[in-house]
Amino acid sequence: MREQYVTDGLAETELPADPMDQFALWFKEAARETALVHEPNAMVVSTADAEGRPSSRTVLLKAFDERGFVFFTNYASRKARELSANPYVSLLFPWHPMARQVIVTGTATRVGREETVAYFRTRPHGSQLGAWASAQSSVLVSREELDRSYADLAARYPEGEQVPAPPNWGGFRVSPRTVEFWQGRTNRLHDRLRYARDTESGAWRVERLSP
Ligand SMILES: Cc1cc2nc3c(=O)[nH]c(=O)nc-3n(C[C@H](O)[C@H](O)[C@H](O)COP(=O)(O)O)c2cc1C
Repeated sequence: MREQYVTDGLAETELPADPMDQFALWFKEAARETALVHEPNAMVVSTADAEGRPSSRTVLLKAFDERGFVFFTNYASRKARELSANPYVSLLFPWHPMARQVIVTGTATRVGREETVAYFRTRPHGSQLGAWASAQSSVLVSREELDRSYADLAARYPEGEQVPAPPNWGGFRVSPRTVEFWQGRTNRLHDRLRYARDTESGAWRVERLSP
């Protein structure tokens, strides 16, 4: 299958007008290749602090539509603090086994509280407790400190009991400015087609980048 993608390549004529439609197509293909791509919704999120110092980490894409890409995290985490100071963000989907990557640049804004609460309710009980138990990105004295925090919460909210969404936890929506679709080809002559949004009209144009 990998060879098929490499052989077929990616042509301008195949692309829909909106990059989110192209993303939906590739995401569906990645999700179908379960033997190749283990977690197609895993993406690398890069942020930078107010001084421009970058940092990256993997998070899970939980939703996408014409407004952009949504992930959930702790609002006191390093990434969230950086996004408060500097909303510019990059997402990278590393679908290496298909010889593909998708690279997004844009700006992140917090999703509404209702959207966060609705998503939080769908999480398994243990993950809900974990979100409360972890002051994400802060330094722990020991593993025991974390386990104790979880055990206290598990005693307070036994299985089956409704766990409220933590106030410092929620979603970010990344509104894309550019979306690059990268398809590996033979002899390093890869296809790189990048959608860029005109800041004034909001219209998308596609440009081909040299590999
Ligand atoms: C496959 C995978 C999926 C992850 N998904 C999430 C996620 O959806 N949200 C999240 O906050 N952290 C997620 N993490 C943990 C992050 O990589 C990271 O450790 C955490 O968010 C703290 O990042 P920060 O200190 O840079 O803010 C995931 C890690 C891996 C390896």
